[in-house]
Amino acid sequence: MIECYNFQQIHKNEGVFLMEKNIRDILMNSIRDKLENIKNFEELNNTKISILGKKGFIKEQFKRMRELPKEERAEFGEALNNVKHEIESILTEKIKDLREKETQHKALEKSVDLSIPGAKRSFGRLHLITRVMEECVNIFNSMGFEVVEGPEIENTYYNFEALNTPEWHPARDLHDTFYIDENRLLRTHTSPVQIRMMEARKPPLRIISPGRVYRKDYDASHLPAFFQIEGLAIDKDISIADLKGTLEKVIKTLLGKDKQVRFRPHYFPFTEPSVEVDISFPQGKSGWLEILGSGMVHPQVLRNVGLDPNKWQGFAFGMGIERLAMLKYNVGDIREFPRNSLNFLKLF
Ligand code: DAH
Repeated sequence: MIECYNFQQIHKNEGVFLMEKNIRDILMNSIRDKLENIKNFEELNNTKISILGKKGFIKEQFKRMRELPKEERAEFGEALNNVKHEIESILTEKIKDLREKETQHKALEKSVDLSIPGAKRSFGRLHLITRVMEECVNIFNSMGFEVVEGPEIENTYYNFEALNTPEWHPARDLHDTFYIDENRLLRTHTSPVQIRMMEARKPPLRIISPGRVYRKDYDASHLPAFFQIEGLAIDKDISIADLKGTLEKVIKTLLGKDKQVRFRPHYFPFTEPSVEVDISFPQGKSGWLEILGSGMVHPQVLRNVGLDPNKWQGFAFGMGIERLAMLKYNVGDIREFPRNSLNFLKLF
C-alpha cells in the first residue's frame, strides 16, 4: 500500500506553502518507483487499484483535503487531479509497453535459439573405389603413364579376336557374358583399350586405362560389374624385368613396402609369357588374393595392329581395383563396395 501523505501535517510542521507543483512532486515521487517497477499485468492491476481504486491513494488524498485550510483546498484539488491524470497516462503507457514485451517474447519463443549448437553437417566423400583408383592413377602418372579411355560397350573384335582369342578359344567361355547383339557386348576387361590405342597411335606407348568391366560372377571376391586399370607399355627394348619392376613399384607404393608380392605363371591368349600377381592378405586372414593379370604382349597381338614384333615389344597388365581396395583397407567381402551402406562407407 502506498503511504498517504497528510498534507495538513506537512503544511503545519514545515510551514510550507504548498504550491501546486510542490504537491505534485511530493505525490509523484512517492509513487513513481512503484509505477516504474511494474513487470506484468498482474502487478499493473494491483498498483492501479492501490492508487486509483475506490479506497486507493488518490481517493484518500481527496478525503483529507477537508483537513486543509479552505483557501488552499482548490489548489490542492487541482494538483491532485493533475497527478491523477498523470498516473493514468503513465499506466496507459505501461500497458502498451507490457503488450509489446509480450508479443516480443512470444516471437522470441517461436524464433530460432541461436545459442543451441547447430546440427552437425556431414560432408560427403569419395567412394573408396574412386579413391583407390585415383591413387593408382597418380602413381602411374608419376611413372610416365598417360590416362586414356575406351568404350564400355565393345565390339567382339576388340574384346576378343584382336586379343588373340578367336571364337573357338576355351578362354572365351569365361568371358561370354552380357551381349547387346551378336557383335557387341559389355566389355569383359579393359584390354580392348590396348588394341584401340595401338591402332590409333604410333609407339613408343605408355598408357593406362581405368574403367568398368562386366562379367557373370558374384561371390565374396567377384562382382558382375567392377573396375580395372589396364596398362600397356610398347617400346623397342622392353623386357619382363620392366614389367616386374613397374608392378612391384606400384603395388608397394599403394599398399606399403611390407606387402608380399607373388608372381605366378599363368596363361592369357594375348601375352607370352603370362603371369598373375597375388598379394598376401592383411592381418587375420591367410592366403593370397589375385590382383592382376599381365605378361609380355603376344607377337600375334602386335601383328594384329600392324606392329613388327621383331622391332617392338611390350608389357601389359590389367589390375582389379576392388581387389586392391580389399587389401589396402582389409575388407573381407568384395560385395561391400557396391552395397552403398553408409555404415560401411563411413568406416574409411
Ligand atoms: N584382361 C585380363 C583379365 O581381365 C587381365 C590381363 C591379363 C590384362 C594380361 C592384360 C594382360 O593386359 O596382359 O583377366
